[in-house]
Amino acid sequence: MTQDFRTIIEPFRIKAVESIPMLDGPTRYEALQRAGHNLFCLRAEEVTIDLLTDSGTGAMSSRQWAALMLGDESYAGSRSFFRFETAVRQLTGYAHIFPVHQGRAAERILARTILKPGQIVANNTHFDTTRANIEQAGAIALDLPTSRASQTRDATRFKGDMDVPALEELLAQKKTEVALVMLTLTNNAVGGQPVSMDNLEKVSQVCRRASVPFFLDAARFAENAWFIRTHEPGYQDWTLPAIAHKMFRLADGCTISAKKDGIVHIGGVLATQRQDWADLFRCEMILGEGFPTYGGLAGRDLETMAVGLEESLDADYLRYRVRSIAYFAEGLEKVGMPVVQPPGGHAVFVDAGAFLPHIPARQFPGQALAAAFYLEGGVRGVEVGSLMFPDSRLQLLRLALPRRVYTQAHIDYVIEVAERIVAKASLLKGYQIVHEPPFLRHFSATMQPFES
Ligand SMILES: Cc1ncc(COP(=O)(O)O)c(C=O)c1O
Repeated sequence: MTQDFRTIIEPFRIKAVESIPMLDGPTRYEALQRAGHNLFCLRAEEVTIDLLTDSGTGAMSSRQWAALMLGDESYAGSRSFFRFETAVRQLTGYAHIFPVHQGRAAERILARTILKPGQIVANNTHFDTTRANIEQAGAIALDLPTSRASQTRDATRFKGDMDVPALEELLAQKKTEVALVMLTLTNNAVGGQPVSMDNLEKVSQVCRRASVPFFLDAARFAENAWFIRTHEPGYQDWTLPAIAHKMFRLADGCTISAKKDGIVHIGGVLATQRQDWADLFRCEMILGEGFPTYGGLAGRDLETMAVGLEESLDADYLRYRVRSIAYFAEGLEKVGMPVVQPPGGHAVFVDAGAFLPHIPARQFPGQALAAAFYLEGGVRGVEVGSLMFPDSRLQLLRLALPRRVYTQAHIDYVIEVAERIVAKASLLKGYQIVHEPPFLRHFSATMQPFES
């Protein structure tokens, strides 16, 4: 069995290749200046290794490309919708299934249909678009992570869990104000940390007892299922689809950005067991996404999503995926860059606050490190700290791995870039904002480094 070997092999061979830009230092310097020091504003052709996000950046399989040709583009009732619906129903068990163009479209429909101003949504930690959609509806997005979530060196498992006593306390005091409880799998904002089945069961019980609806933000359901199988007692002999099915059945519905574990370039899902909510979703769908059997997507997209959702639960693929992230984290630690422990499922999070103690949080150490990775080796990551979330307790740089795209040699290259940055860490400078938009500022703010 290949899993007994030290070397991780990609459980696929490569059928089509895409060249990546190889740039020199002065070109990278000029590009960063032009982009206002914001890596979101670079052109992709100015990036050598793009670890900005794992969202929509995966490589589709030959099965998915073949499925694309089977797309039925009928406006209503297309064959591709039923193929998609069957795949999502097998995965989740939910009765009512809607395709949407991406995760935030599902969040928007959910927020606009079921939330009233002043109501509360509790989550282990809201992803930024989930929070923005809730707040846009006038409701309050409340994060209830456990205290372990912010301990970057605490290597215990399932740091993505929700703080159940805090949820019980909230429901004891404000039950009538809580419109929805959500669990984000895996918990992206705290380092891609998984949620245990034990926590899922407890949150589900608390919600059922209080008659409060419970949804999953299940963008990374497959990686979460893998962590349950490999680290939670009692699940070692379970199949991955059985674990995923159990996770979904504990909730009343889900939003999914299929750009992650669906391994597609665009697509998402909104699904629920509740007939009353499904009726509301259907009306809102037509206003913004389209007829409920295509939902802002082409029939071919529904076909590729159906295949991707199945492929992401393949054990060989998930073993390689999660091991690659761990290998990346081990390499960075070895050259002296502290990373959030334990490594999660889709990205390595470097603790920029600890690595650059001479740069205070208000001068964005995560941004300083992101710029250094780009200038040194054309590697693009993203700051997850005070720039993205002004009240953030952590100052991180996220290096996300697109699915099935980069090889171990690419990861070794990024580790070598990190080694060079370690040698000059004390010379890195903090940043200040020159211009920022009214919300979600990290996407378009322009910045400049402090001069010494
Ligand atoms: C946990 C989580 N939820 C929701 C979303 C939003 O999905 P999308 O980008 O498809 O709108 C993301 C995207 O990164 C995410 O990580």
